[in-house]
Amino acid sequence: MTNDVHAAGAEAPAAWPIRLEDASVTYPNGTTALKNVSLTIEPGEIVSIVGLSGSGKSTLIRTINGLVPVTSGTIDVGPYEVSSLKGRGMRELRSSIGMIFQAFNLAERVDVYRNTLVGRFAGQSPLRSFFGIASAEDRRIALEALDSVGMLEKVWTRAGSLSGGQKQRVAIARALSQDPRVMLADEPVASLDPPTAHSVMNELVRLNSERGLTVLVNLHLMDLAREYTTRMIGLRAGEVVYDGPASSAKDADFEQIYGRRIQPQDRLETT
Ligand SMILES: Nc1ncnc2c1ncn2[C@@H]1O[C@H](COP(=O)(O)OP(=O)(O)OP(=O)(O)O)[C@@H](O)[C@H]1O
Ligand SMILES: [Mg+2]
Repeated sequence: MTNDVHAAGAEAPAAWPIRLEDASVTYPNGTTALKNVSLTIEPGEIVSIVGLSGSGKSTLIRTINGLVPVTSGTIDVGPYEVSSLKGRGMRELRSSIGMIFQAFNLAERVDVYRNTLVGRFAGQSPLRSFFGIASAEDRRIALEALDSVGMLEKVWTRAGSLSGGQKQRVAIARALSQDPRVMLADEPVASLDPPTAHSVMNELVRLNSERGLTVLVNLHLMDLAREYTTRMIGLRAGEVVYDGPASSAKDADFEQIYGRRIQPQDRLETT
């Protein structure tokens, strides 16, 4: 593990479990996006969430890092009970959760290095993040995170000129430079072509196996869930309708989750 952020000595922080108990989310406009969801994800598990558009996948990810409050029920992430947090406690929780999105969310005009270093300021006071005072340790960790996703040679490139797959690698490096205990990914490969999607999924699997990180990833395609994750949770209209091994999920399970038979567009081509 020569490329590991922690090669210089410090141990990777221990991964955290995620526990939802009877969690429901109703948005202010009255839409109920999650209904009585109870789940426990053990530290170091790699779990996919699949379901139709609108089934509540993003809402689930967002409630876990406190972006969307639960209307009832509880969510625990490591030592934190999410709905009781505010201010500093919420910043501490978020600094321990790496987030990756479909849209990468990089600062396009800024170079790869500074986009990655931002991860070191997650959970800092707004003042320190504003001035962005990076220590030698911050810089080392950011560079090692870039190295670990194979992006070190692009360190001075503007993020805006990278390919989609390269942007997603930088987004992963930024999340890694937080030294997270949990990694949440909301459709991280949805804007990528199939080969690039596979390489980014492999990257997530590697973080899970090498660092023992808890990884929760939303995916549109059940094939990706079957190939890269060990456990799959199927959401349908905000309810858990499948929770079991990903590799053995059958077409009948697909029908249960998606409410219809499997079709060609539900498969990811590997050309
Ligand atoms: N901010 C919001 N305000 C009101 N309703 C919302 C909000 N965000 C999501 N919803 C609704 O909540 C439900 C679940 O949405 P969510 O975004 O969690 O689904 P999803 O499974 O991530 O869908 P997709 O695959 O399209 O990303 C949908 O009916 C959606 O319209
Ligand atoms: Mg979504």
